[in-house]
Amino acid sequence: MLSYPIADGAELRALEPWNAAEFAAHVDHARDHLAPWILFAAAVTDVDSARQFLQRFADEQAADGGRIYGIWLDGELVGGTLFRTFDTRSGVCEVGVWLSPQAEGRGLITRAVRHMIDWAIRDRGMSRVEWRTVPHNARSQAVAKRLGMTLDGVLREDFPLGGVRHNSEVWSMLAHEWLR
Ligand SMILES: CC(C)(COP(=O)(O)OP(=O)(O)OC[C@H]1O[C@@H](n2cnc3c(N)ncnc32)[C@H](O)[C@@H]1OP(=O)(O)O)[C@@H](O)C(=O)NCCC(=O)NCCS
Repeated sequence: MLSYPIADGAELRALEPWNAAEFAAHVDHARDHLAPWILFAAAVTDVDSARQFLQRFADEQAADGGRIYGIWLDGELVGGTLFRTFDTRSGVCEVGVWLSPQAEGRGLITRAVRHMIDWAIRDRGMSRVEWRTVPHNARSQAVAKRLGMTLDGVLREDFPLGGVRHNSEVWSMLAHEWLR
């Protein structure tokens, strides 16, 4: 997948170590918006930390594990999606997402993740695609619902962020549900 069109002027494509400067600038721009929800908002602070973060996904992808994609809107990096985990042995993967505020409300994430679920299930034979969110992230919950996912349950104090341990809701789409 070099580039997948998700809407007029919007494309999903691989986010790689050579994009580090652009990714660092994007995270810097969106940091306040992402920090309450996303771990890398605190970890990616300059081009070097951005490159390290992207290199980790490049290494994972080389081993057929996790992978990360950017969303470009009119040529500007405005967000992205990732397979935080991608375990072909168990057939389970987890999707994560983020957007700059100016890119919200256009359906970009819903369409991008629909494509990822389709690829994971149809092309890679995955059995279960997971989505995790803290229970007070209404926009994230709305995406999971819009995709037709089911809430499996809550992992208590599973997610440490900003010095606080938050609960995680686990949502999922199963292959036989998706293919129905
Ligand atoms: C979570 C997040 C990615 C969701 O972004 P989003 O813009 O709400 O999601 P989408 O891109 O799928 O867009 C859906 C919105 O576009 C609208 N929309 C327009 N066209 C659409 C289309 N063709 N298909 C679906 N939705 C469409 C929907 O009605 C919805 O609008 P609403 O918010 O007014 O109800 C974003 O809020 C974010 O980055 N938050 C901070 C980081 C974060 O929380 N990440 C997730 C951690 S679990």
